[in-house]
Amino acid sequence: MFDSETRTLVVVGAQWGDEGKGKLVDVLAERADWVVRYQGGANAGHTVDLGTTCFILQQIPSGILHSGVRCAIGNGVVLDPETLFTEIDRLVKSGIDVEGRLYVSDRAHLVLPYHKLVDAESSASRAIGTTGRGIGPAYEDKVARRGVRVLDLRHPRHLHEVVSRGVDHANALLAHFGSARRAAVDDTVAALEAIAPRLLALADDVGLSVHQAIESGATVLMEGAQGSLLDVDHGTYPFVTSSNTTSGGAATGAGIAPTAIDAVLGVVKAYTTRVGNGPLPTEFAEPLATRMRDLGHEYGAVTGRPRRCGWFDAVVVRYAARVNGLSGLAVTKLDVLDTLDRVAICTGYQVAGGVHTEFPGDLVALEDTAPQYEWFEGWQRSTADARRVDDLPPAARRYLDRIEELIEAPIRFVSVGTRRDQIIELAGAARV
Ligand code: GDP
Ligand code: IMO
Ligand code: MG
Repeated sequence: MFDSETRTLVVVGAQWGDEGKGKLVDVLAERADWVVRYQGGANAGHTVDLGTTCFILQQIPSGILHSGVRCAIGNGVVLDPETLFTEIDRLVKSGIDVEGRLYVSDRAHLVLPYHKLVDAESSASRAIGTTGRGIGPAYEDKVARRGVRVLDLRHPRHLHEVVSRGVDHANALLAHFGSARRAAVDDTVAALEAIAPRLLALADDVGLSVHQAIESGATVLMEGAQGSLLDVDHGTYPFVTSSNTTSGGAATGAGIAPTAIDAVLGVVKAYTTRVGNGPLPTEFAEPLATRMRDLGHEYGAVTGRPRRCGWFDAVVVRYAARVNGLSGLAVTKLDVLDTLDRVAICTGYQVAGGVHTEFPGDLVALEDTAPQYEWFEGWQRSTADARRVDDLPPAARRYLDRIEELIEAPIRFVSVGTRRDQIIELAGAARV
């Protein structure tokens, strides 16, 4: 990872989230100077397993566990200050020093209690199965130009007016939902004034700092949250999150130029999962659904919600490779398939009179399709101790070769367990 041609690398989820981005970013961060989160917020849960301790990061970049790495939360993130402080306190308690190397963009919008209230009380949020972290309402306020930004906390006199716009709108929505709950401007302002010194101590012009770092030859990782199929433009709309999770969002969300990005690594599970509602064409039926959930410990890192599981969908990942411009793939959780007697890859969606190999934007049309599978013999041997590709059973290698062929992007990393050391780096990984 990282050579003279690849200094700025975006890491994106290429399915529906929880692909193991946190693990990959932690592994790669050993060789990085900066790690920047560029979108989403506390809806994310990125797991880093150090063996002795397991960290779940929601807003703080997953590079934070390496003491020399600078970590920044970009302008594209909607930041929940309370959750941020809880995360910082937890890290400090575990002996991780964040002092002087954690930055928050002063342009980032804040997720405030009334955003969470609106998310909780909205039937539309329930239908999508949101995480309830106030993400959608905060992005709505941002786009509607009534959001509160970190830099607003510098101006106490102006804060009241900015907060009023958000609170008035939230209260109108709550009334419309038939909810009796309301937000109060004075309480919100008082709470913000109380946290202002701590938050402003982290505030920075992140876009400028990252630009300067890139100019000086630093290596920069950009950490995506969620997955490409949850992207508000490219995902399974309306069953998506409210940000651009794909690599295009990395430039706008970190505040750097698209031309500053050298490579994009797509993280995929060796199968597929999704949390919340919406299409999952390769979803398992019982009893495989429960078996795979148990084998992969497929429960939300933060919410604990059971994840839906299915076979690897090459139509989805090929699509993600195109919209993200993936230069390489990291395949995670290969070990979860170790005990299966056979495994499948979806290569197309059957429709009357043919097969679609491009992921459709039209979910109604998607309903009328059936996944077409290619079957592979299982390897039925543990891969957890493999550290080189040659250590993998031939059947596992054949499975990965077919994925590479179908996606038309080289596999650069294979992860075979939760821990940092359980990773195989393939040839060309420095280029990603
Ligand atoms: P993220 O949101 O993309 O960072 O992924 P999550 O942390 O939400 O979910 C990934 C889960 O899979 C976590 O519990 C990880 O510890 C775990 N994990 C990551 N890579 C592997 C792997 O190669 N094998 C196994 N068995 N678990 C993994
Ligand atoms: P990481 O970064 C998986 C899903 C929710 C819901 C939809 C919208 O850990 O991969 P939101 O609260 O964002 O408005 O919910 O998006 N979702 C995720 N699914 N991993 C995530 O993050 C997710 N963040 C949001 O379940 O379906
Ligand atoms: Mg996650």
